[in-house]
Amino acid sequence: MAVMSRATSSRWAKLLLLVAALCCLVYPAVSVKHENFKTCDQSGFCKRNRAYADSAAASSSSWVSPYVLDSASVTFSKGQLSGTILKTVTTSDRPVRLPITISFFESGSVRVTIDEEKRQKGEIELRHGSKARKERYNEAEKWAIVGGTKLSSGAAAAQDAQPGTSKIMYGLGTKFEAIISHSPFGIEFKRDGELHIKLNDRGLLNVEHWRPKIDKPQEEKKEGEDDNTEPKALTEDESTWWDEAFGGNTDTKPRGPESVALDVTFPGYEHVFGVPEHTGPLSLRQTRGGDGNFNDPYRLYNADVFEYEMNSPMTLYGAIPFMQAHKKDSTVGIFWLNAAETWIDIVKSKSSANPLSLGIGSHTDTQTHWFSESGLLDIFVFLGPTPQDVVSSFSELTGYSQLPQQFAIAHHQCRWNYVTDEDVKDVDRKFDKSQIPYDVIWLDIEYTDGKKYFTWDPLTFPNPIGMQKQLDDHERKLVAIIDPHIKNEGGYSVVDELKSKDLATHNKDGNIYEGWCWPGSSYWVDCFSPAARKWWGQLFQYAKFKGSAHNLWLWNDMNEPSVFNGPETTMPKDNLHHGNWEHRDVHNLNGLTLVNATFEGLVSRNKEEEKAGGVRPFVLTRSFYAGSQRMGAMWTGDNQANWEHLEASLPMILSLGVSGFPFAGADVGGFFGNPSRELLTRWYQAGAFYPFFRAHAHIDTRRREPYLLPDLERGIVTQALRLRYALLPAWYTAFHAASKTGAPIVQPMYYAHPGDEKGFAIDDQMYLGSTGLLVKPVTKEGASSVDMYLPDNEKYFDYSDYTSYSGPGHVKIEAPLDRIPLLMRGGHIVPRRDRPRRSSGLMRFDPFTLVVVLGNDGKAEGEVYLDDGESYDYEQGAYIHRKFTFSGATSSLASEDVGIKGKKTSQYLQQMKDVQVEKIVIVNAPSSWKSKTEVDVSEEGTTSSGSSKKAGFGFISGEAGKADWAVVRKPGVSIGGGWKISFA
Ligand code: NOJ
Repeated sequence: MAVMSRATSSRWAKLLLLVAALCCLVYPAVSVKHENFKTCDQSGFCKRNRAYADSAAASSSSWVSPYVLDSASVTFSKGQLSGTILKTVTTSDRPVRLPITISFFESGSVRVTIDEEKRQKGEIELRHGSKARKERYNEAEKWAIVGGTKLSSGAAAAQDAQPGTSKIMYGLGTKFEAIISHSPFGIEFKRDGELHIKLNDRGLLNVEHWRPKIDKPQEEKKEGEDDNTEPKALTEDESTWWDEAFGGNTDTKPRGPESVALDVTFPGYEHVFGVPEHTGPLSLRQTRGGDGNFNDPYRLYNADVFEYEMNSPMTLYGAIPFMQAHKKDSTVGIFWLNAAETWIDIVKSKSSANPLSLGIGSHTDTQTHWFSESGLLDIFVFLGPTPQDVVSSFSELTGYSQLPQQFAIAHHQCRWNYVTDEDVKDVDRKFDKSQIPYDVIWLDIEYTDGKKYFTWDPLTFPNPIGMQKQLDDHERKLVAIIDPHIKNEGGYSVVDELKSKDLATHNKDGNIYEGWCWPGSSYWVDCFSPAARKWWGQLFQYAKFKGSAHNLWLWNDMNEPSVFNGPETTMPKDNLHHGNWEHRDVHNLNGLTLVNATFEGLVSRNKEEEKAGGVRPFVLTRSFYAGSQRMGAMWTGDNQANWEHLEASLPMILSLGVSGFPFAGADVGGFFGNPSRELLTRWYQAGAFYPFFRAHAHIDTRRREPYLLPDLERGIVTQALRLRYALLPAWYTAFHAASKTGAPIVQPMYYAHPGDEKGFAIDDQMYLGSTGLLVKPVTKEGASSVDMYLPDNEKYFDYSDYTSYSGPGHVKIEAPLDRIPLLMRGGHIVPRRDRPRRSSGLMRFDPFTLVVVLGNDGKAEGEVYLDDGESYDYEQGAYIHRKFTFSGATSSLASEDVGIKGKKTSQYLQQMKDVQVEKIVIVNAPSSWKSKTEVDVSEEGTTSSGSSKKAGFGFISGEAGKADWAVVRKPGVSIGGGWKISFA
């Protein structure tokens, strides 16, 4: 063998390096395969409803909606109006009867539900001998709704209703009004006499009634073929009514067309937000074409969209059909409770009272049009008036986000895959060696024995317990993936039981449905079935999932469900679930049901633990629906390691936050591809402000754990991670608020400043809860500064050096690679824990720092919530919840209890009694404090003036645009106690 000389080998090495570098540069640009997913035109009911809207618009003033509320049928009692809508059809003398109920709730929300009598009574025939249910799907509420539906005792029918209308006054102080027009049917919602929402204003209400298929001698239309024949009448164009083919799969549609549709107009509202999950701006775009607008409606049909694209109304993995409309100082909203494929068109129309007024007095109406393939027409209306009011009404209905364990909001390290248990332990050690904090390491599908979930590969993971033990030594956790597809392989006990107990999803013929996913041929557990959920849940028992320990938690992926050989990478719509509901009806709920079963299983995986009160489960889900927030976190799926995806993650997370699912994050670093060092560094800086903060990478990527970075970037990333850990008390407090009020954990500008119109469309900067911390992560390559928008004339201070900025307007913030543009708004108090630790669990008894940022008025306020970070004891009062107030008038800072005492309060306080506030920093300190050297501290129970003690004080004059600041050293007060510090 020829031996290469040193020179030759180094030439080769250089060449190889060059090739490797070039490979990085030309990493293939990847993009979604559009042909795998339907456009509106390829989705029969979408096409029909758009055509319906077009013909309504074309005949404009002569268009009359054929839906009339039969006045004689209307009754109102105990907060509920009932009646029958009659739909005139051209093919029959007899109208179609559609029962309607309008429910007015104590909370001030209203629900409008429309069913179809014939289907309700089962008086229809199904095609193809289908075993499917005949009713419209009416169980979405079973999954999505958990409260807020107490009927209002105060709602009352007003006597002054115009003829042909019913008028109901409701809401606190009956400031809300619903005016229901009978012919044509429509509803107007008013708040304090002002109109905010109109239903069926454009006459697009459409409930496709059942009709038999009359076989005419006509050629079946083939997929992709254009329909050139002019329809006789719209309702008679059958071209999309029956069997529908797409991507080589034919949907048999045994019930024929049954879509529901409605237009919802927000008069005077220019911005609408919500309906995640999509890429694109937070303030939703118009969808009917034109400059800068989408051509297709926003689609909600949970799907595994490989290499999803930016700025698109295409569907993604999850669906929350909740929308807010916002204008200056007013927010209203709707929730479209339907789990079938759904599309939403948005059009904004400018109108002005006087066409010659050149914009004076003109305003924008946002017109939306919602359509779903099947099920009830079921819509909730919220009248605000603030974004928080709307989100909290929605959260009251669908549930507040879970208060997670503390580790869950710390830093997670994932990749597809850590390949052995030794590999996991090695990564764990390397984090420690580099002094980089992390709480959770994740295992992707390769840990299993041949993709058989609930097993471990015996060769690569021979000692899972030992691995979890090492993690546990530093209070760290393991999260393992468990997907819903179960490998079809004889002798695998999980599949054997699934089959023998008949707990899998069925195909249209009622036999077990077989499809293709990671393991190859697979079956899908049907978590709509109570028996299947129970069975699934018990698989998590330590005795069943052998090798799992108490610090193992779960990741439910592929739960849209993702089926590699299915239509649009999911299940056929004519598959059957428990109760013979078609998959079509329940599709968007599928992911939620799996997480529900996993969550329940984890709560009860061990009798001892359960008896002791249980530990809060952690489950990450990819697919979700309204209500999934009750059970854990979500992430935005398979993003890409490029700047566009980093940028897109912010509006996506903000959108989820204002839609009731705030525990959201994106794969840090980007899933596909290898990020540059700069991109990875910037992504960690952004990720430190994601509510769910996890690094993840595809199996084909290079390792990129932060300790592998060169010194410079490693140091910067470590700083970002330490910042996350230092601010964990603020994060946890924000998570607590979310679990009580639905408040987003990171908040967009419109949410925090609903009166500031200039901020409504801003979606690249955000507040952390109510802390006043305003961050604008850098998402542009090579950027060394950002333009940050300040909404008001409060002062804002740089988080690290207290440089002072004043609004309103844009300010330039320097942002070299080692800086995250992070400001503190005057008037807030932020709790922190400054000692660097390996994991959050090790910070449990660490002291606190309070950062008091005085506002223009010399005041500040803030809070802290803490508990044991893992159990449910907080439900019995085992927590500390303090409000801190700095009063300018008395020049004092006080801590006040805002918690509610319970059985376990004193025990917890006792445990925490030595946890102190070790430092108080006051930013924007008054110059009159300059010569002060100590402050008076008095504690609750020792408030008489004589008993106060002194604490050291220092004043630092800010130079060159920086604020003066002061520090109180070791005030000797406990975080859970009542105290007052006087600076007078
Ligand atoms: C798809 C998920 O989105 C991704 O995060 C995961 O790594 C792969 N499935 C493999 O399980």
